[in-house]
Amino acid sequence: MGKAYLKVATVYFTIGVLAGLIMGIIHDFRLTSVHAHVNLLGWVSMALFGLIYHFYPNAANSKLAKVQFWLHNIGVPVMLGGIAAQVFGVTAALPAAIVGSMAVVLGVILFTINVFKHVGKDSSVDSNNKFSA
Ligand code: HEM
Repeated sequence: MGKAYLKVATVYFTIGVLAGLIMGIIHDFRLTSVHAHVNLLGWVSMALFGLIYHFYPNAANSKLAKVQFWLHNIGVPVMLGGIAAQVFGVTAALPAAIVGSMAVVLGVILFTINVFKHVGKDSSVDSNNKFSA
């Protein structure tokens, strides 16, 4: 789970910085919010999920992690596709932005539950961690 998240995160990072570069070169900033969310939900959040799941295998191997992975990986492109389409005047794309966003939010709630349930149960990790609470 951690590896899959890290790999997908780097793809979003590449798309995000390319979009930023293109926006800057052509001086068209209409997709700024899409660029920001590709970088923050795609790159930053998924890289953090990946690193957290690498350090906490009990959390990574749970059913909650699998469900959250798919909610995030389906929700983010649907949400961003919906926002991008709306920016270009396709008002019918609003439901996609809303449904995609709701999938992401639900996934984040499951991630939070997963962390509270499973982080701290990996004895080999936590015994090496001087800062574990
Ligand atoms: C080479 C990499 C990048 C380039 C060329 C780039 C370019 C841009 C450009 C041209 C804008 C629009 C600025 C404007 O509207 O005046 C922007 C906005 C933004 N970018 Fe990037 N960006 C890059 C990487 C990133 C990364 C890695 C992140 C986050 C992890 C990020 C987050 C944001 C955010 C949050 C905004 C909105 C800022 C605001 O509206 O106040 N960008 N970026």
